[in-house]
Amino acid sequence: MKTSVRVFENAADVAAKLADEIVMRIRAAADEERSFSIALSGGSTPELLYSFLGDEFRDSVPWEFVHLFWGDERCVPPGNPDSNYGMVKRSLIDKIGIDAAKIHRIFGENDPEGEAKRYSGEILSGLPSRDGMPVFDLVLLGLGSDGHTASIFPGNMDLLASDSICAATVHPETGQKRITITSRVINNAEAVVFMVTGENKAGIVREIINNEPGSEKYPASHIKPVYGSLDWYLDGEAGQFVQAIHS
Ligand code: 6PG
Repeated sequence: MKTSVRVFENAADVAAKLADEIVMRIRAAADEERSFSIALSGGSTPELLYSFLGDEFRDSVPWEFVHLFWGDERCVPPGNPDSNYGMVKRSLIDKIGIDAAKIHRIFGENDPEGEAKRYSGEILSGLPSRDGMPVFDLVLLGLGSDGHTASIFPGNMDLLASDSICAATVHPETGQKRITITSRVINNAEAVVFMVTGENKAGIVREIINNEPGSEKYPASHIKPVYGSLDWYLDGEAGQFVQAIHS
């Protein structure tokens, strides 16, 4: 597993540099006439990235090669302020005019168990497979202060060994129902990127990147791509306790 840890001045720099990386990967796929599949993360951190992509690369990226998926979704309708799809629609989709057939949202308004099954089928039919699991070109992840990623929470450690593609989970604090891809899908990707900013994540970032004793209790510590790369894009606050490495 090829790993890098990149620390940038502030969140805006993280968004700009990660946008450049994503654009480079999309262009490389387009040059080879192949589609590019990305599983997007939710929450507050990535909105800056999506806005930067939508504002700065609206007309200079072959978006027609891109298929947007979500790594997880809150079980709410798309118009709900909590919707990860709604956040991406406002910050990116509405700016780049991507074909609706290439937007593979999770139907947060559906019954969670049924939607987990339906979305698993949509992922399987839309992506190549390896070791019996779908292969994303890129999975973008955030990190919760409790060590969750996507919507795999500390109480969902069974999902780490699951052969399911998606699962229905529940946020341990809010009780909000979620749909998430599983860690086997994440670890099957060609590239996995954590985008983490903010002082409150610095401690858990250090524990996970330095593989500190006890960090195995965090789902995010089990994200170890089998074939692909793992990159951490951090701002100065989140990365204050770790060494930048460009392996
Ligand atoms: C979600 C995300 C989740 C998020 C972390 C960090 O749907 O909330 O997928 O995994 O990345 O909770 O959230 P913040 O970026 O808001 O800190």
